[in-house]
Amino acid sequence: MTYVQLSELCYAYERGSGDVLHRFTLHMEEGEVVGLLGESGSGKSTVLRLIAGLETPQEGAIVVGNTIMVDRTTFVQPERRGIGMVFQDYALFPHMTVESNIAFGLGALARGQRRDRIGEMLELVKMEDYRKRYPHELSGGQQQRVAFARALAPRPRLLLMDEPFSSLDAGLKASIREELRELLRLSRMTSILVTHDREDADALCDRIVEMRAPALSMA
Ligand SMILES: Nc1ncnc2c1ncn2[C@@H]1O[C@H](COP(=O)(O)OP(=O)(O)O)[C@@H](O)[C@H]1O
Ligand SMILES: [Mg+2]
Repeated sequence: MTYVQLSELCYAYERGSGDVLHRFTLHMEEGEVVGLLGESGSGKSTVLRLIAGLETPQEGAIVVGNTIMVDRTTFVQPERRGIGMVFQDYALFPHMTVESNIAFGLGALARGQRRDRIGEMLELVKMEDYRKRYPHELSGGQQQRVAFARALAPRPRLLLMDEPFSSLDAGLKASIREELRELLRLSRMTSILVTHDREDADALCDRIVEMRAPALSMA
């Protein structure tokens, strides 16, 4: 059963030079981890921005689960899409502890449930002993693990990752990739990984989709 449908997406930035996406189509099964691989400028981040609802496609539709997120007549606001995101610079809230960062998306839960979920997530990313630390008191790899815990805590329908390993050194990257692979499989998280690095995509993804910038029509 198809779980994610990106259908014939067309997108051009208002102040860009032409189409970034031209009839981009991708279907995913539930639990699948797909890599979007392509050089810089090929439109990878744009695909994620459209899925997250940060941009609106000029044509095409996005369906996740049974919900139409966007089509000709529908637009679901970003905060209502239930989509988790992790970016390259971790973007933890610097003034909040590990625990509070993970709690951020859990406002809808009762206090007890929230505490339980935070506990589960800390265990999942092996950060139980760091709950009271602030981001600047953690290594890069630990910060990245907290960023994943924060994204996964509200049980998103879909997880989007945009070059999440770019600021990690090579050794750390290899171990984080393995941990993440395990973590996504354990939580059966349907995920899209954007990367320019084939090794990252190979290590983590069930399937790889290559992206190319559309040829300039003026050429
Ligand atoms: N806000 C913007 N305004 C205009 N053009 C943009 C904007 N963001 C990205 N672009 C252009 O859109 C194309 C695709 O960008 P992007 O999706 O970020 O590619 P990637 O993530 O694959 O590097 C690039 O040519 C980029 O310069
Ligand atoms: Mg990008």
